[in-house]
Amino acid sequence: MYAFTSSDVAFLRSAAGTAALAEVDALPFTDSSRLHDVGVARKLLGESFAPVVETVLLRRRAAAKLDSPSSWLFTDDALQQATASAVARHRAARFAGRDVHDVTCSIGADLFALSQVAARCVGSDLDPVRLAMARNNVPGRLVVRADALRPVSRAGAVTADPARRDSAGRRKWNPSDFVPPLDELASVYAGVDLAVKCAPGIDFAVAPWADEIEVVSLDGAVREACLWTRGLATPGVSRRASVLHGSSSWTLTDAEPDDCPVAPPGAWLVDPDGAVVRAGLVRHYAARHGLWQLDERIAYLSGDAPPPGIRAFRVLEHGHYTEKSLKSLLRTRGVGRLEILVRGLDVDPNTLRKRLKLSGSSEATVVLTRVGSRPVFLLCQAERT
Ligand SMILES: C[S@@+](CC[C@H](N)C(=O)[O-])C[C@H]1O[C@@H](n2cnc3c(N)ncnc32)[C@H](O)[C@@H]1O
Repeated sequence: MYAFTSSDVAFLRSAAGTAALAEVDALPFTDSSRLHDVGVARKLLGESFAPVVETVLLRRRAAAKLDSPSSWLFTDDALQQATASAVARHRAARFAGRDVHDVTCSIGADLFALSQVAARCVGSDLDPVRLAMARNNVPGRLVVRADALRPVSRAGAVTADPARRDSAGRRKWNPSDFVPPLDELASVYAGVDLAVKCAPGIDFAVAPWADEIEVVSLDGAVREACLWTRGLATPGVSRRASVLHGSSSWTLTDAEPDDCPVAPPGAWLVDPDGAVVRAGLVRHYAARHGLWQLDERIAYLSGDAPPPGIRAFRVLEHGHYTEKSLKSLLRTRGVGRLEILVRGLDVDPNTLRKRLKLSGSSEATVVLTRVGSRPVFLLCQAERT
């Protein structure tokens, strides 16, 4: 991993740097050509080949996460930490028309989204190289070096995205290990409207100061939790799930009803989006879509018709689960390809798959879960609704 310096950034932003980037970007850098291409770049550019090659490769990687990274500058870590554009846009929408300060702006993925909707925005960070990159990535916006824990602006809305990795690259979930720490951010910005992005896995009880907790998923993967305070939070809402899929999105909050019966499986099994599960809104989701729970402690739902636009499971057969009976059922049905979903049972899908010795031309999904203390299986056909 290349360690960029401020002078690398100055070079990459210069006319000579731009020309070098264009030349190197013409090289394929496939697995088989990479060594050769690095050699070509080194011959072409001499000493400055390393930051140029690294930037070209990072831009290509960034295309999976960011809308238009072809002129952006990154470090490897900063790209990993950057908020995906769709999620950044979603979060930025609450700041529309406001003066906002991104106090941990890094290379500016969130700051860019804010700059599209805020009345005015400023970014700051402690890392001088990332700041230099942010000036390139979010041109025309004020980007300054400042400690997030020592406020330097009078913006009425502040957003922070503390770092979550320690030097060994291990993820940390304890809020005091966030950099800067969550509770210090909350106390420094107690008087302004604050949004703090954090890992969705943290125990939300550690942020009693948050007025609303929003869990966001993108294309089926839970990406972040956002802790909103004061004027940025929605009155009457303490938990929200926001589900982003391509250009569409929907949201669900704990202000909606959560009346939902517990009953045996119907025609369909529904596995709610991870954001709904993580936000503790499974019952609310069931109530919205006329579904019911199979067990009140398990997040699988069932119903006569699945919600539109999801991958749901048409129930073919269900009953008491034993490995032996499942094996014989799959053999009878000629199931050679099996998706195994497990919730609430101590079953490892990979180990089970090996032991099932599947053969046949049919495809199916088996859901293994429990109702009370009883292990149950539901053999299903996955369908897009
Ligand atoms: C997860 S990154 C932010 C990523 C950014 N939201 C984006 O989408 O590109 C966290 C940033 O916080 C910065 N940081 C850590 N402690 C800080 C502090 N006390 N004051 C300001 N910035 C800090 C780090 O340098 C790092 O760039």
